[in-house]
Amino acid sequence: MATEEEWENHGYEIYRTVTTTERQAMGKPPLERSTSFTSGAIKKASVQWYKMKWFYTGKATNTWGDELQGYAVVRDTSPLDFAGLDILRPGKVNQVRLRFFNLCRGDDASDDFRCAFLKFGEQEDAGPLDLAFTTGRMASFTNIAGLQEFCSAVDGDEDAVRDWALKSPDNYFSLVDGIRRSPECRTELDYNSHVTYRLATDDEHKIVRFRLHGNNDDARRLKTREDQEEAWKIQRPDIQLPADTYLTDRLLNIASNHKTMTLQVQVRDFDSTNPTECEPTRYWEEEAYPWQDLADVTLTFIVPKLMEERANYDFLLLPDGLQIETPVGGENYANLVSIQEKVLTSTARKKHPEEMHVESPKTTTYLVHVETGNHLFSGTDAGVYIALYGTKGRTKRYLLDKLFHDDFERGSKESYYITTPVIGDVKCVQVFLIGGKFTFKRIWFLSNIVLFDLTTRKMFEIPCNKWIDSKITLPTGEAKLATQETHLDRKYLRQIYLEEQQNLLKWSTDSPGLPGQLACDKYDSLPLELKYSSERQIEKKKIILDVVLKLKLNKYMRIFQSFDSLEDFKDMAKVVPETETSKAILEDDRWRQDAEYGREMLDGVNPVLIRRLTRSLPQFPVTDEMVGEQLDRGMTLKEEMEFGHIYYINYKHMVDVERKDKFVPNPLIMFYVTRAGQLKPIAIQLEQKPGPTNPIWTPKDQELGWLLAKTYVKSADSHYQTVVGHLQMAHIVMESFTLAMYRQLPQNHPVHKLLIQHTRFAVAGAQMGRDLLLDGPESVFQKILALPGNEREFMRAYFADFHMDQLIPPKNFAERGVDDRELLPGYHYRDDAMLVWDKIAEYVEKVLRIFYSNDSDVKEDSELQEFVKDIRENGMTKRPGKSNGFPETLKTIKELTEFASMIIFHSSVYHASMNFSQSDYFSFGPNYPGAMRRAPPTSKAPVTEKDIMEALPTKADQAVSIAFSHYLSEPLSDEIYLGEFKESFYTETEVRDILDWFADEMSEISRQIRARNDDLEIPYVYLIPDNIPKSAGQ
Ligand SMILES: [Fe+2]
Repeated sequence: MATEEEWENHGYEIYRTVTTTERQAMGKPPLERSTSFTSGAIKKASVQWYKMKWFYTGKATNTWGDELQGYAVVRDTSPLDFAGLDILRPGKVNQVRLRFFNLCRGDDASDDFRCAFLKFGEQEDAGPLDLAFTTGRMASFTNIAGLQEFCSAVDGDEDAVRDWALKSPDNYFSLVDGIRRSPECRTELDYNSHVTYRLATDDEHKIVRFRLHGNNDDARRLKTREDQEEAWKIQRPDIQLPADTYLTDRLLNIASNHKTMTLQVQVRDFDSTNPTECEPTRYWEEEAYPWQDLADVTLTFIVPKLMEERANYDFLLLPDGLQIETPVGGENYANLVSIQEKVLTSTARKKHPEEMHVESPKTTTYLVHVETGNHLFSGTDAGVYIALYGTKGRTKRYLLDKLFHDDFERGSKESYYITTPVIGDVKCVQVFLIGGKFTFKRIWFLSNIVLFDLTTRKMFEIPCNKWIDSKITLPTGEAKLATQETHLDRKYLRQIYLEEQQNLLKWSTDSPGLPGQLACDKYDSLPLELKYSSERQIEKKKIILDVVLKLKLNKYMRIFQSFDSLEDFKDMAKVVPETETSKAILEDDRWRQDAEYGREMLDGVNPVLIRRLTRSLPQFPVTDEMVGEQLDRGMTLKEEMEFGHIYYINYKHMVDVERKDKFVPNPLIMFYVTRAGQLKPIAIQLEQKPGPTNPIWTPKDQELGWLLAKTYVKSADSHYQTVVGHLQMAHIVMESFTLAMYRQLPQNHPVHKLLIQHTRFAVAGAQMGRDLLLDGPESVFQKILALPGNEREFMRAYFADFHMDQLIPPKNFAERGVDDRELLPGYHYRDDAMLVWDKIAEYVEKVLRIFYSNDSDVKEDSELQEFVKDIRENGMTKRPGKSNGFPETLKTIKELTEFASMIIFHSSVYHASMNFSQSDYFSFGPNYPGAMRRAPPTSKAPVTEKDIMEALPTKADQAVSIAFSHYLSEPLSDEIYLGEFKESFYTETEVRDILDWFADEMSEISRQIRARNDDLEIPYVYLIPDNIPKSAGQ
């Protein structure tokens, strides 16, 4: 019920009194509401359309700066959630524009109807949702004829308005309802959209009305009955300001104080029996249909006044799911929308005489320094525009162009001057590419922008290092947590950026049980930003061509026959340039020796599987009788296990994976560390279930029989290395981390800046891996492995056993029982990995402590927590019932340090160990075959070299294996190595100092490892930081 304080519209009552008493006194009958228009009247009005438009345009005013930009943040409790409209989804942040203008019966300060247009979206183009509002709960006209009457009245003197008002009770009521008196600020008023919208789902048919709600509307209405009795009078309070600046000053106030209005809705069920409920001249009783908050509209700056910045409105263009309710009867209110469309929009656009603008007297000039990347196709032919967002406003778009000069060529460093109104400290820059004939000439690799304010002498650095194809919003360089973001535009643009990323980069739902990957069917469909650089693509193609032609492998690729001898394999291996390692392996047939076999399990192509064995395995019943001769300390096997001299690998994850045509066993292998510190294989069982057809081989067996058993184990090891160790664990796991980073951490988040270079080409690498290795009949794995088409089953089985600690070196080495350097010497992969890990962790902690002052900062970093959650739920998806160690949240700086270090280590060090060792080991098939052509032996029948040749790959398959491993092991020329910081992401001096320190530390480790390698017969070269690319992009 209305209280005494609540405002009341006495319009109908006054109308009744005046029309009955006055008119009776004048001898005239009471006036009735004119309700209908004949088709003739409409036709007549239509003829006058342009006249009306001209008239109306002339009447409305738009003082300078009448358009503001801001953000509409939909409430979590959105009353329209049921309709599923994306732009009105709970929590959605929309960029909006809001235009204010008056009907202007007098001037800005006079009593007047006041209007507002709200546009969702940042573009100047119409849509996706444009709403028109006017003060007052009901429309004063709904069609052209009504507009004509209204305009004629407003165009006349006060008596004309009075006559119009007294022409119908609704006219009088709407006049009283809509007039607002000299507001302090336009945002304090209520603005109603008189149009009824339909939101229909399968189950519901609701109708809604919108209102833009201010906080002080009551105070600006015609308060008293006496006022309302003279509602037609144009009153101007005693305000000294000139008409055109009156509201402008207040508008400036809106932007600088970030005023917030509330977008509200009334919602009701559609009732087809009530034909008038949708009419704009009927308002819905608030008591029956209360206004519900839909979104907070915060205004942050005034849009620059140039016409090119003017937004276009189209009130008929609506998002899917929202419609204008079709009239059931009564007046054709759809015409109201047409009038808004055709008359008001032109009104609001047209009245912008320059002389009315109150130009800010202060301007400044920026020196804009723009650096284009030095990659192939980095330059652009498009027009490059920039707009600056500052603490006090925003500039228009400026075209960066020098006459008779080809701007933004590859590797160029260009400087421009732009003079703009003073906008305070620059916080964001928007870059737009417009034009450009061809796609490849339009896209642009922008390295960075530096702005220098020539007035304040302040410099603003804006790192980018990204491909742009149409538009990008870049925050100035300083890294910030969301909680530290005080500038509203940066805060909201940050949220919008993340949402765009989440829409662009969606998780695939096609690969349950595997690490999360991008929803993308092939490499070519990847978003530009995630693709390889053009150079890298060209270089990779060249390497393939080189590998096949220059290495003359093509001549082997059609020979589907066995090699004649082991020497033949050596000849083919020589097509690959020799390295110290590949040479040493073949020298004097070193590869046949047990000590070399053990060394390769520690320092070879797959050094991450070996584990300490502390007690016998029932499925691998090795006895003292079998291996006693190999144990050189005089102890039993049990004692040797207890002392930590026995190690093993169990290749158990392919057991349930179907083989096709070719073979790979599911072996177990046991190793012993001799007194001299050499790791040697001492027992091999080729299948998991012990029994008479699954004997255990030892070095005591016939030499070729033992050699063949060892070869079958290497075949299993190749499958583990290529399918899970390299493709899945290095590339696809990094793809998961990368996607989560892009989806959840904005580009100026300190952890994004920390990780970005370690995610370079990670998604491209994973997708290319799937395209080339896994999918399709021509895939590499189809040719060289024994599981064609079933590799993902193997991956699933392996991933089901996976735990996060496997990615954290100290935990991984401890868990495998291989962390003791005394017990297991010669494990240089471990030693080097730990050296680099310790420094990475130190570096990460140093950087993080600049941005996180305590553990609470970590806990309260909602973006970081979403990143962790995305990894847990969509990347490293936890299986029911068994934890894989990925945390729900990060609570401390220590936890965050370990988590971020893990990602950096994994992308760089782990991947390098898997990637760059392949050519050294896979080039010589007898030492490291892929699939075997014969089933694993089931007895210890004597073996001949011919048997071995027939079990090993054909020449064609071996040629593919060599080509593939060499292709992947070749370093690429645009690689960035650990400790290198070619592209600048941080602008903070203190961080840059840490980067310098880290670079020095990596150089020092490189020096140490090289010095150590001088003393080794076969050096371990894969984890020298100088040779470790920062990311798993190859
Ligand atoms: Fe790789």
